[in-house]
Amino acid sequence: MTIRPMCETDLDPVLAIEKQSFASPWTKEAFEQELRKPFGICLVAEEEGAVLAYLVAWRVMDEVHIANLAVHPDRRRLGAAEALMRFLESRERSAVWMGLEVRKGNAAARSLYRKLGFFETGLRRRYYQAEGEDAILMSKVLPEQKK
Ligand SMILES: CC(C)(COP(=O)(O)OP(=O)(O)OC[C@H]1O[C@@H](n2cnc3c(N)ncnc32)[C@H](O)[C@@H]1OP(=O)(O)O)[C@@H](O)C(=O)NCCC(=O)NCCS
Repeated sequence: MTIRPMCETDLDPVLAIEKQSFASPWTKEAFEQELRKPFGICLVAEEEGAVLAYLVAWRVMDEVHIANLAVHPDRRRLGAAEALMRFLESRERSAVWMGLEVRKGNAAARSLYRKLGFFETGLRRRYYQAEGEDAILMSKVLPEQKK
């Protein structure tokens, strides 16, 4: 598996995964905007030229916020999400904080982030307005880098 920056030509497979992964999927325009954001970090994981997972994050000052992460349904439990998250953390190691919102009912994702050292640090009630589902805020303080 290779991890590399996402580009416009990845958007068809990315959108196909997005639609199979979320009840309210991001649109193509939403991904295009992410690719243009100067503080946006858009990565894909691919195998034999096929995109199997992606991650979108924002680097703002000393903080990294994970905005989107999904793996093709046929390629889950093979370590792709963990590899993308570890790649992001290594790339952004000068940051001091990483965080994200996750649906309360998303046991797989909550377990992934716990494995990576995130803690549940807050609750945003009815954050997902379509279903009225709460979000759990998960965050992690990154180790300070030696100068
Ligand atoms: C959540 C998701 C990204 C995990 O991707 P993945 O590539 O299957 O995860 P990995 O194989 O890297 O798993 C790493 C760890 O996460 C946890 N995990 C992943 N899927 C899990 C599941 N279904 N049940 C319980 N734990 C799970 C485990 O701790 C796992 O480590 P292990 O395999 O040593 O037990 C994937 O299920 C997905 O795309 N879901 C739909 C979209 C989504 O919910 N995105 C997250 C939004 S916050």
